[in-house]
Amino acid sequence: MAAKIPIALSDVQNTMLLPLWGRAFEATKPEPLLVDPAAIAMVDRLDYDFAAVRATQAPISQVAWVLRAVCIDEVVTAFLTEHPRGTVVNLGCGLDTTFERVDNGGVRWYDLDLEPVIALRRQLVQDSPRRSMITGSVLDTDWFAQVEVGEGVLFVAAGLLYYFEPEQVEATLKRLADEFAGCEFVFDVASPFGVAVSNKKVIDAGGLDERSYLRWGVADISDLLAWDDRFELVDTLYYFGDRAESLPPELRAMGQAADSKQVQYVVHLRSRRPS
Ligand SMILES: C[S@@+](CC[C@H](N)C(=O)[O-])C[C@H]1O[C@@H](n2cnc3c(N)ncnc32)[C@H](O)[C@@H]1O
Repeated sequence: MAAKIPIALSDVQNTMLLPLWGRAFEATKPEPLLVDPAAIAMVDRLDYDFAAVRATQAPISQVAWVLRAVCIDEVVTAFLTEHPRGTVVNLGCGLDTTFERVDNGGVRWYDLDLEPVIALRRQLVQDSPRRSMITGSVLDTDWFAQVEVGEGVLFVAAGLLYYFEPEQVEATLKRLADEFAGCEFVFDVASPFGVAVSNKKVIDAGGLDERSYLRWGVADISDLLAWDDRFELVDTLYYFGDRAESLPPELRAMGQAADSKQVQYVVHLRSRRPS
């Protein structure tokens, strides 16, 4: 058996192991909401104590990571139906496996993250003619030239933007809209309450330090739309409706209460082209 791959990352980068574990763990349930063989294979290859993740994370958090992936898959799949040879850039990709779940045979896909994460990812995933990794920061622009624009561009940012200050998120979305006119975005947001709960129940409970705290909370999605008159809301996807029908009733009720308070949800935005 191949030796397990060691992990030497900062706490912020280690946050990527939580949704990875969440997606892999889902398949162990009798009625999984998502089956993600690539995530299972990655968990098996890594030298990491995933049992400790299971011991410290609440069932609702694990399910929310899975349902976030389900919502994002829906948006990416619809985008690729409309733009079969479109470009998708997965920002802060960590050890995400969306490509494996949604590849339509035509998409040009990029996975971007910071250097140590991409170095680890390269031990688990290979580049291919339609799929490339990019080492870079979402807060910088030096990687823009590496992106070949196809029939349209969709930026995916799962579990990423709330780690930044609001001004950084605003500047990042505007820069991407400037460079990739007409692009779309799909990302998750948390309310200020959701930020506080995640910091306590996910980051503190997981033994991660304060540098991994979420910072950007969205009280009202119209605040985000007001940043730029090019931004238009395509859809808001809440986790615990039809997608969560097979969940045990208590867990689903907890999730639906969180949905009704907009604790965490997925937003699909489009940036209008200048007329
Ligand atoms: C919670 S993880 C989410 C990973 C992945 N999107 C997923 O859903 O499984 C956050 C990721 O954001 C990455 N990240 C943090 N700051 C970043 C930056 N400035 N530029 C690019 N990626 C960043 C981290 O390295 C980490 O992989």
